[in-house]
Amino acid sequence: MSSVQTASLRKNSMPKVPKSVVNPNELRLDQNENTGGCSPRVLARLRSLLGQEVASYPERSIYEPLMASHLGMKTEEVMLTNGADEGIHLLCELYLNPKLDAIMAVPSFGMYKHYAMATDANIVEVPMSTDFSFPTRDVLAKISSKTGLIFIGNPNNPTGTTVPVEDIYRILETAAQIAPKSGVLVDEAYFEFYGQTLLPELHRFPNLHITRTFSKAYGMAGLRVGVLVANANAMQRLQRISSPFSVNTIALTILPIALADQGFVRAYIANVKRERQRLQNSLEKIGLRYWPSLANFLLVEIGEGRAAFLKEMAKEGIFLRDRGSDPLCGGCVRISIGNKQEMERVVEQLPVVLKRIGWRREA
Ligand SMILES: Cc1ncc(COP(=O)(O)O)c(C=O)c1O
Repeated sequence: MSSVQTASLRKNSMPKVPKSVVNPNELRLDQNENTGGCSPRVLARLRSLLGQEVASYPERSIYEPLMASHLGMKTEEVMLTNGADEGIHLLCELYLNPKLDAIMAVPSFGMYKHYAMATDANIVEVPMSTDFSFPTRDVLAKISSKTGLIFIGNPNNPTGTTVPVEDIYRILETAAQIAPKSGVLVDEAYFEFYGQTLLPELHRFPNLHITRTFSKAYGMAGLRVGVLVANANAMQRLQRISSPFSVNTIALTILPIALADQGFVRAYIANVKRERQRLQNSLEKIGLRYWPSLANFLLVEIGEGRAAFLKEMAKEGIFLRDRGSDPLCGGCVRISIGNKQEMERVVEQLPVVLKRIGWRREA
């Protein structure tokens, strides 16, 4: 076969891939991303990347002192990770095995269960209350000598709810007493919208581990950067099971610029708070139930028509997240908060689509 023939065969069998992950006709409010993108300063640096930079292996340890100083921690307490996901994964690998329990309130971020299950640990799911407040008493009751890792999303995804700090202290203290080798993860992926952190408590509680991400407030989900914070002893053990190359060179290169542009983060947070309120006002007017959220999304109950609602919204180019199969979330969808124009579009479409699917306000 000639090389021309081979080339044309290859061309015909080539799978089609989109030119970009972004489709300008779609409004994606299903992944809690920053719909406005990343900071313009970050984008400018990305545009100026040199071939040599792309060709270089990453060295995250060079950037960890800067991250530590930003967080007010010591360098040996901080690890940059491939998204918060990698931090969660590493904690599961370190603290779980088939003989131990992974305790998580549900509904919560799906990757807790995903990575915990990969270790064959026993999954202990503790249902939240109907108002999605954290089931502290029930979590405390589940702590035993078999506890390996306890997950606390604060704020929690998909509910947007938070956990009182005193409750987290009680869980940390109880776990340390009953299961001294266990770990507790406080996942602060949505910290920037909430403003409260457990970081200053790290030295008080050796079993405390915290994850943060650049995927949400910083608008950098595609670059995959997160941070794992733990006491220096735990961190040494975590370093041993982590890959030194998991955070890519491009993400590392722009990290100092992203951290320096706090004005960008503040503006996005202000946008989220304002637009979340706009959406809440509209939901109240319509009579749809939602749960007050301290993150960049709202969990909304549509009820039986949930699937039809999602389908009709998608026809209008608005993609929301189906949470109907999450525990206690039957009938629920999660709506990420976009900018003013995007949320005006959502608020305009909501009553139209609800009418189309025959949704009725409960008497
Ligand atoms: C609660 C929570 N933790 C962690 C993550 C993962 O973030 P990353 O993109 O940094 O892996 C998410 C992403 O949606 C999340 O909602």
